[in-house]
Amino acid sequence: MSIDDNPALLSYTHRFPPSPEFGAAANASDPDIYDRAAADPVAFWEEFAHELDWMRPWDQALQWDCPHAKWFLGGKLNASVNCVDRHVEGKRANKAAIIWEGEPGDTRTLTYSELLAEVCKAANALKSMGVKRGDRVAIYLPMIPELAISLLACARIGAAHSVVFGGFSSESLRDRIMDCGATALITADGGWRRGGVVQLKQIADAAIAETPSIAKVAVVQRIGAEKAPVQMVAGRDAWWHDLVADASPECEPEAMDSEDTLFILYTSGSTGKPKGIHHTTGGYLTGVYATAKLVFDLKDSDVYWCTADIGWVTGHSYIVYGPLANGATCVMYEGAPDTPAKDRFWRIIEKHKVTIFYTAPTAIRTFMKWGDHLPNACDLTSLRLLGSVGEPINPEAWLWYHETIGGGRVPIVDTWWQTETGHIMIAPLPGILATKPGSATRPFPGIEADVVDEQGNSLPAGRKGYLVLRKPWPGMLRSIWGDDERYSQVYWSKFAGVYLTGDGAVRDSDGYLWLMGRVDDIMLVAGHNISTMELESALVEHPAVAESAVIGKTHDIKGQSPVAFVTVREGFTASHELGEELKKFVGQKLGAVCRPDDILFTADLPKTRSGKIMRRLLRDIAEGRVLGDTTTLADPAIVAGLRDKYASDEG
Ligand code: WT7
Repeated sequence: MSIDDNPALLSYTHRFPPSPEFGAAANASDPDIYDRAAADPVAFWEEFAHELDWMRPWDQALQWDCPHAKWFLGGKLNASVNCVDRHVEGKRANKAAIIWEGEPGDTRTLTYSELLAEVCKAANALKSMGVKRGDRVAIYLPMIPELAISLLACARIGAAHSVVFGGFSSESLRDRIMDCGATALITADGGWRRGGVVQLKQIADAAIAETPSIAKVAVVQRIGAEKAPVQMVAGRDAWWHDLVADASPECEPEAMDSEDTLFILYTSGSTGKPKGIHHTTGGYLTGVYATAKLVFDLKDSDVYWCTADIGWVTGHSYIVYGPLANGATCVMYEGAPDTPAKDRFWRIIEKHKVTIFYTAPTAIRTFMKWGDHLPNACDLTSLRLLGSVGEPINPEAWLWYHETIGGGRVPIVDTWWQTETGHIMIAPLPGILATKPGSATRPFPGIEADVVDEQGNSLPAGRKGYLVLRKPWPGMLRSIWGDDERYSQVYWSKFAGVYLTGDGAVRDSDGYLWLMGRVDDIMLVAGHNISTMELESALVEHPAVAESAVIGKTHDIKGQSPVAFVTVREGFTASHELGEELKKFVGQKLGAVCRPDDILFTADLPKTRSGKIMRRLLRDIAEGRVLGDTTTLADPAIVAGLRDKYASDEG
């Protein structure tokens, strides 16, 4: 990447400062926190580590032998104690820890003392299955309370969990089990999704037929035999309810070393074999605790809802470990946002008086497409903070979120981080920083982010480059499970001594960071570096456009030419004229060089199950290549349909 001649996003400069009331009451209200943390980041993180319960204090806060970090060396603690026991012993025994809602409308609330009993019973059940400290447990569950309980139960006995998202196939489950050598699996008969049943146990059976390491399987009965018939293999499978019925509600927590493994979580990335991201205990817990406290401003009075699935890192860090370490009340929802109707999320906010709501731009754009009348018909005045994560949020969606969901009153925290970083790295402290729509603002205190050129030199404001992190942080991945060589190579080899995020970014003159998506998604059009998300952001500003995905197609003269895949909003019709109008619209907004050569209308875009647009597949379609692996897609039929359509439009 070289000269940035087109910082289109930066042209939107309106700022949203925190209200004086919000600022005064915020967990972080002193702007000095940034300088203080920068002067001594390790001491800054230690302050938060001191707010956790340790069974033995650490001797040394950080040992940094690049690319290997160890935090809080010699310290002993247990993550489940920090997320549950200490709140029961404190003043939160009868406070709701989890308010759960199933897709069919069933609900269950667990107080902190009830959660403690459930976690202990589950921990004892795992022991009865032969699971020991140091083992790996695979978890393949729908979004039911037993999922959060299973994570904490593993943590209690010192077994590492490896959660596999309940929407993944049996092959994905099999590969992840084999890679980490899990000896036990926790699954369910099934889970609800859009009124239908996902047959989890049947899918799991196909996976474990090929994974000799799995000795025992615990099966939660979520659905019942009529709709989710299961075959229990004698000696291997047992019902969860039978296992916990006999289990004691007390279980002595293991004193884990700060650097003992807490979990492994696989991330597929854009290519190649999934990477088992390896996280440990003390540093991770410190990082998620501190960021949840300061970025979400968690207070005892809050009802906090993160809409992610615990199958992703967002759910690990900001449904389970971060909020529970803070003693928060968390809403957890099992199903789809459009079941039974497209207002389900707003109904949940209204019903449980949610105060903090954390979701993804792809969801926000979908809600925009569904129409304002749905949130407008619900009482959303309980909200006091909104969050976004997963991809860059375009200013259009940011403003809609702010106005239509936040009533123009509440701060938005756009949080940049990765499975690898474990916790939030770039986000506003909402009581301190003015936000700008589309910017994740500044690094969290103690984090040193930079934007560099191809040689690793820091770039001045306004120049696009590689986003890197210059200092170790407590929740950073320790390695890739079983492949330390790949760990060094992927993250630490391009620039000596700095962590390569793989994202492009540009800093503005206030030092705010604007994320540009994956570096692979930056096009080189006639010598200009153009990020696909800049075009996408411009396209969705057109009233007819709901969502778009832009890719660079190989071009004889220009190198690459932009091609846009577009979905239209309700009330608009795709047509040749609209396509021409959109080309012109983008050309006027961003300059002629950005004008897309092709616009292809589609009903849906191919997305991974975590909501990321699969641009690699769109490039394959646009360049007429044989399609690669589509198994991680939420709906593989979308791609096949698009390929046929593209071929006929071209022809
Ligand atoms: C990638 C990490 C972090 C939990 C969910 C995704 C993109 C994430 C933002 C944001 C711009 C973002 C980046 C990053 N990303 N949050 N707020 N603004 N981009 O975890 O699957 O590991 O993906 O998601 O490209 O590298 P993940």
